[in-house]
Amino acid sequence: MVVPYKHEPFTDFLVEENKHAFEAGLKVVHSYLNHDYDLVIGGERVATKDKIISINPANKEEIIGSVSKATREHAEKAMQIADETFKSWRKSKPEMRADILFRAAAIVRRRKHEFSALLVKEAGKPWNEADADTAEAIDFMEYYGRQMLSLKDGIPVESRQIEYNRFNYIPLGVGIVISPWNFAFAIMAGMTSAAFVSGNTVLLKPASTTPVVAAKFIEVLEEAGLPPGVVNYVPGSGAEVGDYLVDHHRTRFISFTGSREVGVRIYERAAKVHEGQIWLKRVIAEMGGKDTIVVDSSADLELAAQSIVASAFGFSGQKCSACSRAVILEDVYDRVLTRVVEITKNLTVGNTKESTIYMGPVIDQAAYEKILSYIEIGKVEGRLVAGGNGDNSQGFFIEPTIFADVSENARIMKEEIFGPVVAFCKARDFDHAIDIANNTEFGLTGAVLTNNRSHIEKAREDFHVGNLYFNRGCTGAIVGYQPFGGFNMSGTDSKAGGPDYLLLHMQAKTTSEML
Ligand code: SER
Repeated sequence: MVVPYKHEPFTDFLVEENKHAFEAGLKVVHSYLNHDYDLVIGGERVATKDKIISINPANKEEIIGSVSKATREHAEKAMQIADETFKSWRKSKPEMRADILFRAAAIVRRRKHEFSALLVKEAGKPWNEADADTAEAIDFMEYYGRQMLSLKDGIPVESRQIEYNRFNYIPLGVGIVISPWNFAFAIMAGMTSAAFVSGNTVLLKPASTTPVVAAKFIEVLEEAGLPPGVVNYVPGSGAEVGDYLVDHHRTRFISFTGSREVGVRIYERAAKVHEGQIWLKRVIAEMGGKDTIVVDSSADLELAAQSIVASAFGFSGQKCSACSRAVILEDVYDRVLTRVVEITKNLTVGNTKESTIYMGPVIDQAAYEKILSYIEIGKVEGRLVAGGNGDNSQGFFIEPTIFADVSENARIMKEEIFGPVVAFCKARDFDHAIDIANNTEFGLTGAVLTNNRSHIEKAREDFHVGNLYFNRGCTGAIVGYQPFGGFNMSGTDSKAGGPDYLLLHMQAKTTSEML
């Protein structure tokens, strides 16, 4: 009997022992900096001349690893192997597939601080954010393993006396997993695990900025006993490998997490039926957000201010769940704004090799430039009250930035910035606040700080987001506790870490036997 699922606890770095354990993790990561990582196709290591160089965004000089870059030929080879492997993998026992995940979770748990330290280096995460990312990766494996066990016998349906009917879920086929850099471990591992535990084979194309943590995950899966060919590691460019695999006639589904722009492109391409293709591809997409925290007049204003800061600036605002809009009722607006600015001005920004640094860099030069260009737009659309500067001399650092008095239709209120920038907007009353919260094309997360029960109920009905939180921030969903995913242009309404997520990777088969 498998013990019930419980989420992996977070580490308290104020405890000296934990701090030392994390420092030991950093040392382990240092011992393998700048190593080479090959493609993994059917269990074989394949080295290419052309490499993706993964660097530390806090220190551009520091190379995390050189990763082989797949070409179309590699992608084709990997597809053929995944397709072939599917023939046996689809019949493998769900219990065995779940056991591989439980073992993999145990291996990661033993090397937890090493993985988190790698996220500090490769993604520029602060310690606590890296620790949460690793914990979430463990959670996904534990949770999806259990979900598979609960689905393995299908769902009971009725039978008449003369027949025996069954309703079972079977896998789809080869899935392309295109994972993001912002939860470089958790989301990558979660998407991959869900796909293969439900009996599919996978071509994993991790984000080009964080491919090393994915290579390490492949090693963990091998150690846990995953047979060759089930998960193939094919990092490469979107144009060269991504499009090729999305278009491929043997691709059965695509699981994507990333920007709205790329998600829509994948969705459109996947809709085209190519020669030799005998199915309609499925797309599971988790895209962007433009997430709002609403502060009501009755709210605990200190809690509101702390929630806005943590949700806007945790991991430099580089979460699809991050708060990029604070909509405050006018009678408490000045108090909340003043307090948020005060807290923000005390945040530390720098290389997160130290445990005390609150905010690290943004991921790369392109992100740095995009965020700074939005800060310029913000200077026209609002009043800059904190931050506003960047420094990319060593790493891609941007100050936590706040714009006050922004109108509800401003660009910085509507477009995803994916950086440490938050716009403050005044609302006349609670209804107006909810209208503003809903005025984007996204619908991912939101939070309402209020002590007014009827306002909670109004928001529950009318605030149109996939993850709505009351009296807390809008980031930090926990696998199995707050299934995560949004509405509208935030994706295909899939809920990662939720009870129906695996079903998106499967199809139902009805069998009816006459007795
Ligand atoms: N699941 C993360 C959060 O809730 C975002 O991907 O913050």
